Amino acid sequence: MKKIVLFASGNGSNVQQISEYFSTNTLVDISMLFCNNPNAYVLQRAEKLHIPSIVFNKNMFYLSNIVYEKLLEINPDLIVLAGFLWLVPEGIINAFPKKIINIHPALLPKYGGKGMYGHHVHEAVVANKESISGITIHYVNQHYDKGDIIFQAKCPITDLDTADSVAEKIHLLEKEHFPKVIDNLLFNV
Ligand code: GAR
Repeated sequence: MKKIVLFASGNGSNVQQISEYFSTNTLVDISMLFCNNPNAYVLQRAEKLHIPSIVFNKNMFYLSNIVYEKLLEINPDLIVLAGFLWLVPEGIINAFPKKIINIHPALLPKYGGKGMYGHHVHEAVVANKESISGITIHYVNQHYDKGDIIFQAKCPITDLDTADSVAEKIHLLEKEHFPKVIDNLLFNV
């Protein structure tokens, strides 16, 4: 049995898609959702999807070993940041080499770094009149959006696009590719 742990901060559409993709796969268990926002909609999704969840705050993450020890206890095969916005503490990164991945809603190294998340990314892409954007799935290190790239997919952006319409295109790419990339990392790498 392969164990996946998910980290999310907000809406949770990626969490839902990953969970649905693996729902008929008896070799994969979504063991836990870690969430840093007690009001996040992803917590309601997790309940409906029967994924156990833990809510944590900054102190628990950065100043205590609570999250770290829970992760050691679960011993996941993959830790997936699926719309998670905080930097992962170095202790956790070092404990799980090549086992923590993140999805970013742009073609890194463009539009990455602190403060570049969700809608901020799409607004910048539109403001700069990019003709192409996309998604990047990458390993996580101690810097925002800087780890080795595993996968990218692109979509065209036109003059008519708004930040909202770019977000829709990006979510479609995430839905199409993120669960498959996770599947591949679990079973083929
Ligand atoms: C996703 O588009 C993901 O790529 C992005 O947040 C969104 C979360 O959506 N992640 C980042 O910006 C990380 N820097 P969701 O909560 O509906 O899955």
